[in-house]
Amino acid sequence: MVQARIDFLEKGHFEPLANAVIATAQRFSGKQPLVLDVGAGTGYYLNALQEQVSVSAAVALDISKYALRRSARLLPDALCLVCDVWRPLPVAGESVDLLLNIFAPRNVPEFARVCRDEGVALVVTPLPHHLREIAEPAGLLDIRPGKDIEVAASMADFFDVVDNVRVEFTMALSPVDVSNVATMGPAGHHNLPGDVDPLPHSADTTAAFSVQVFRRRPRTRD
Ligand SMILES: C[S@@+](CC[C@H](N)C(=O)[O-])C[C@H]1O[C@@H](n2cnc3c(N)ncnc32)[C@H](O)[C@@H]1O
Repeated sequence: MVQARIDFLEKGHFEPLANAVIATAQRFSGKQPLVLDVGAGTGYYLNALQEQVSVSAAVALDISKYALRRSARLLPDALCLVCDVWRPLPVAGESVDLLLNIFAPRNVPEFARVCRDEGVALVVTPLPHHLREIAEPAGLLDIRPGKDIEVAASMADFFDVVDNVRVEFTMALSPVDVSNVATMGPAGHHNLPGDVDPLPHSADTTAAFSVQVFRRRPRTRD
């Protein structure tokens, strides 16, 4: 799964999404943010962000040591920590200016604890028609409609929604790309290598995401 993700992302297929993440981060976070990427995987988005935005510190968290090894190579200045998002995050309270959560699990109470007042959480989820052209032949799992709304509802105790941008583009995928994209995501747990029959021809494939921005509501202090 990790190598498939590296191979797919290195070909630049998700670059428009990375650009949207960077533009959104520049719009909503202050200067020199402390950035925490929860479920950073191979570090692709944190690296793209760091190339454009001067950060005071960057921290990548992931449960996969294999993915984080790649992050650590890509991001020599970042702190890369193996941890389970469902346990207390190894990050001080009220320290994070910009939290990234891209196709990864969300522990909202912990996000709320680590984000400073007015800090920003940027959450990316796929839309139902993401990869629709190859979903069936590649054996991908369905993406529930309204997932972005569910995310917003789950954040509502601590965060206000300040933006929800839809990012859509078409990717020209080779059969190898199709195989990689099918094994790198959640469907990869179901599609073991060899299970996916690569499409015989290149496929023009839709990429469709919701990029939601949440602002940490200031804590009430007595
Ligand atoms: C679909 S990948 C996305 C990775 C990265 N954000 C990207 O888009 O390239 C989901 C990531 O969440 C991580 N993950 C899954 N469960 C986790 C958990 N309980 N704690 C921390 N990370 C987890 C996986 O290891 C994986 O790297």
